[in-house]
Amino acid sequence: MSIDIVPRSVRKIRRKSTLSFICGLCALVTVYFVSSNNLLSGDAWVPSNERHPRTGHNNRDLQHFLVRGSSGQRQLEWTNKSYRRTSSHKLFNGENPTSTTDLELVKGWSSSDSLYLTEPDKGRRRRLPRAIIIGVKKGGTRALLEFLRVHPDVKATGPEPHFFDKHYHKGLDWYRSLMPETLPHQITIEKTPSYFVTSEVPSRIFKMSNSTKLVLVVRDPVTRAVSDYTQILSKHGKSKSFQSSAFLRNDTSRINTSWIVIRIGLYVKHLENWLSVFPLRQIHFVHGENLVTNPGEEMRKVQEFLGLEPVITEKHFFFDKRRGFPCIKKKLTNKRGHCLDESKGRPHPLLPAKVISSLRRFYRPFNEKFYKLTNIDFKWP
Ligand code: A3P
Repeated sequence: MSIDIVPRSVRKIRRKSTLSFICGLCALVTVYFVSSNNLLSGDAWVPSNERHPRTGHNNRDLQHFLVRGSSGQRQLEWTNKSYRRTSSHKLFNGENPTSTTDLELVKGWSSSDSLYLTEPDKGRRRRLPRAIIIGVKKGGTRALLEFLRVHPDVKATGPEPHFFDKHYHKGLDWYRSLMPETLPHQITIEKTPSYFVTSEVPSRIFKMSNSTKLVLVVRDPVTRAVSDYTQILSKHGKSKSFQSSAFLRNDTSRINTSWIVIRIGLYVKHLENWLSVFPLRQIHFVHGENLVTNPGEEMRKVQEFLGLEPVITEKHFFFDKRRGFPCIKKKLTNKRGHCLDESKGRPHPLLPAKVISSLRRFYRPFNEKFYKLTNIDFKWP
């Protein structure tokens, strides 16, 4: 039988020092692993206010770097060790995390530390639109918005908000509440085609943000008018004939310019109003006819204007022969795609040739002025 001759106080001191030794060792190991990580190496990522020359983001926009930048990628690897991770990997598939609690901060990190971390949900909130499709009604605005939605960096409203024409008195907070949640690098877009023909709208948008990008889809004003009339017929059933509204006293040489269906097609008049507020370079014109026959090309131009990666290409489109319109695939690997509903691309009523030629004659000088103002020849007949 052995007798323990070391006094109890000495044993206590020994136990304490062993414990401190183990703690110290742990701390050393931790410091070694952290310092061997890229974060503390020479090319560590430092947030700055310098703006990206093309997108206009600075690298405080953490998400931007998370998705695109190589240094951001390293951040994510490191972040995964520091955060309890659930579904952050979704970001690499171009999807957004589904909830704001996808990642949780490890206890002990201060909020300023979190600025340096790539947290997918950081900065996820409703934002005012950076771009607005302002018109023109029946130009192909729904098709354009649906095509843009395929881009992972675009988030769009569903219904038309009509904020700047009908609900302006409700204020910007109301408007913002209609917007989808976005991450800092994503662009919020809305479309309300009546904005283009409402005189107060340009200055109201400018007041919200003078850098708002404006997109206008234009189409031959004669077919646009017939399309608009077709919509009226489908909504109200039997209606007055096109001729009785379009001409004064049924005289095909006297156009009724007060009829909204005719007035909307005076593109140059409305554009002049916009150009008294916004510079031309802030408005992008989409060729409505070309959006049907060559959607890939039109989408390339729109993406360039919006500062987006050219993700949507002609490969995303296939032609629905029955409807006579292009449809879009959300992913290139998808077998099926998304076509617009039957309210878009309706068959038009056949109008007498005299009616059409009179309308063409009427619009021609306005179209010519519009081509000059935009520096684009739309080649409408
Ligand atoms: P029609 O129904 O007269 O053919 P908006 O969305 O601005 O109301 O425009 C509707 C028009 O978009 C349609 O008018 C149609 O010509 C045009 N359009 C353009 N691309 C289309 C597409 N991919 N599918 C359906 N309609 C499209």
